[in-house]
Amino acid sequence: MDLTRIRTQADYDDAYRRSVADPEGFWAAQATGFTWKKRWDRVLEHDFKQGRTQWFIGGSLNITENCLDRHLATRGDQVALIWEPNDPQEPAQHITYRELHARVCRYANVLLRNGVRKGDRVCIYMPMIPELAVAVLACARIGAVHSVVFAGFSAQSIADRILDADAAFVLTSDGMARGARKGPVKGLVDEALAGCPGVKRVIVARHTGDPVAMQAGRDVWLHEELAHVDADRPAEAMDSEDLLFILYTSGSTGKPKGVVHTCGGYMVYVDHSFRNVFQYNDGDIFWCTADVGWITGHSYLIYGPLLAGATTLMFEGIPTYPDAGRFWQVVDKHRVNIFYTAPTAIRSLMAHGLAFVEPCSLASLRTIGSVGEPINEEAWHWYKQHIGKGRCPLVDTWWQTETGGILISSLAGVTDEKPSHAAWPLPGVQPVLLTPEGKEIAENDVEGLLAIKFPWPSIIRTTYGDHERCRQTYFSSYPGYYFTGDGARRDADGRYRIIGRVDDVINVSGHRFGTAEIENAINESDFVVESAVVGYPHDIKGQGIYAYVITDRPVTDAEAVRADIVAMVTKVIGPIAKPDKIQFVSGLPKTRSGKIMRRILRKVAEGEMSSLGDTTTLLDPAVVEEIKAGRM
Ligand code: PRX
Repeated sequence: MDLTRIRTQADYDDAYRRSVADPEGFWAAQATGFTWKKRWDRVLEHDFKQGRTQWFIGGSLNITENCLDRHLATRGDQVALIWEPNDPQEPAQHITYRELHARVCRYANVLLRNGVRKGDRVCIYMPMIPELAVAVLACARIGAVHSVVFAGFSAQSIADRILDADAAFVLTSDGMARGARKGPVKGLVDEALAGCPGVKRVIVARHTGDPVAMQAGRDVWLHEELAHVDADRPAEAMDSEDLLFILYTSGSTGKPKGVVHTCGGYMVYVDHSFRNVFQYNDGDIFWCTADVGWITGHSYLIYGPLLAGATTLMFEGIPTYPDAGRFWQVVDKHRVNIFYTAPTAIRSLMAHGLAFVEPCSLASLRTIGSVGEPINEEAWHWYKQHIGKGRCPLVDTWWQTETGGILISSLAGVTDEKPSHAAWPLPGVQPVLLTPEGKEIAENDVEGLLAIKFPWPSIIRTTYGDHERCRQTYFSSYPGYYFTGDGARRDADGRYRIIGRVDDVINVSGHRFGTAEIENAINESDFVVESAVVGYPHDIKGQGIYAYVITDRPVTDAEAVRADIVAMVTKVIGPIAKPDKIQFVSGLPKTRSGKIMRRILRKVAEGEMSSLGDTTTLLDPAVVEEIKAGRM
C-alpha cells in the first residue's frame, strides 16, 4: 500500500493503526518522497515535560526545493499560483511553477543583496498579492525566518512583533485594495518603525501606486532592486530543526506569542494532511480563502498546495465585493475544484440569500472545507447543500497555529462526516479528552478537555525567545500532554466535535484574541479605569466581543466614549478586534481576593441571566444586579 495516500476507509484504518503502533516508521515513510540534501539520522526525539520535540534529526533540506525545484521537470509549465485581484475588471495572473521558481530566486537574491542572511528574522506585512507568496518563499529559500503579520493589524501590533522577533528587515507594499476601499500599508510600517530602531531595510513592492514616503538609506523599491539580480539562487541547506517561520498568535495571558515552526517536520505534515484531507488529485485547482497572515494561509495556501504540485488560488479581495456572489463567481471563473473557507464567511454569505449563489454553476467543485471556528449545523447544511450541491464532501478541519497542520477532520469522501463534527483524528494524531483534574476519559459519548498525547511532525517547537512560556502554556497544565485550550465532545462512535475555547481566548470571525490583550487596549483610553472583556454568541462572527468598562467620570456622551474606546483598540491591535458591545458599569464582579468572575460576565453577555450560579463569594453582589439591568 502507498502509505502516503489514503483512499479508502480501510486505508485510513490501516494507516491510523500503523501510525500509532510505529509513529517513527509511519512518518519516515511519509518523508521519503521529498528531496533531502541529507537524510535524517533519527526520526523523533521528544520530551513533553519540557515541551521539546524534534523530528527528522540530522536531516537537511530546503522546503522551497520541494515546493518548486522538485516540480520543474514534470510540471514546470503548469500554473502554480492563480492570483485573482480585488477588482474583477482587472486581469487575473497565472504564474507557472517555472515562473514562480524564477520569481522566488530573484526575490531571494534581492534579500541577500540587502543584507538578509540565514537565520535572520524578516517581518512581512503585505496584502494578498503574489509578492507576498514570493516573499515568504524567498525567505525560506535563503534560510531567513519569515514572520508574517496580517495586514489588518495596527502599527503598534507590527512594532510589537518586530521587536519580539528582533527583525531587522521588513517586506511590504505601498498600499492595498480591499473591496471598495484602498488603504495604506507602507504608512503603517513607517509608523511602526518609529519605535523599531533595529530595522535596517524595508523593501517595498509597488502595487496600488499610491504615493509613499521612502526613507533614504532604509527603504528600497522591490522593482528597482529586481533589476540588479538574476534568477539563479540555489536553495540553502537547512537542518530539519532550523526555524522556518514565526507566527504570532494570542493566548489567554500577555502579549501574542511567536509560535515557531521548523523546516522538516512542518513540510512532511503539511504535505500529508493537504493531500489526504482534501483528497487532492493531480491537476486540481485549490482555493483557500484565508489570508497568508494566518496559519491557514501559510499551510494551505502556500506550502501544502505547492508541496503537492497543485495550482493554488490567491484572492486579494473580500467575499462581498462587488457583491455577495464574488466567491462563487471566482469558483466558476477559475474552475476551482477544492474550496476551503471559514464558517464566518459562510454565515455572512448565507445572510445575503441564494440570489447570489444561483447564477453560478459551481460544477467544478469536488470538495469543500471549513476551518477556524466551530461550524454551526445551519451553516453546515447550507454550505453542503447550496455550495457543495449535496455531492461534495465537506471537511470540517480542526487545528491551530501551534499544530501547524490539520489534526482532526474527516478525509473528503473517505471517512464519514457528520454536521458540526471535525470527526476523526488524522493518522499520527492521538487525541484524548481529559477531566479538569487531568484524567483521561476512556468512554465515548462524553465531553472533556482536548489534549494530544503524542507528537506529530508539525507540533509547535517553541515560542520565540521564551521557551518557558511554551512549556507553561501547552505542556504544564496536564503533564505528559499537549493541551489545546479547546473543549470537545466525542460522540458514541468516537467522532470529535469541537466546542470552543476553555481559556480566556475568544474567536471572532475565526480570529483569535486574548481577552487580556483587548482589555489592555481598552484601558489605554483616557476615559477608562478598568475593563473586562468576554465573548458572546454572534450570528455571523461566531463570537462577538463584549466589553464591560468602568470610566473615570460619569458618562454623559456614551457614543463619544464608545467611539474613543473603539479608536483605541483599532490603534493598539487593529480594526478586527473592535468590541461589538460596550457596557458602562460602576464595578466588576470580583471575589474577595480581587479576581474578576468572568463566568458571571459571560452569562450576562449571553443573556442567560437566570442561571448566574453562586454569587455569594463576591465582594459586592450588588454590582451583578446593576450589570444585569444595563445589559446591551
Ligand atoms: O478553538 C479552536 C478554533 O480555532 C482555534 C485555533 O485558532 P488559530 O490558531 O487562529 O488557528 C485557526 C486556523 C487553524 C482552535 O483552538 N478552531 C479551529 N478550527 C476549528 C476550530 N473550532 C472548531 N472547529 C474547527 N474546525
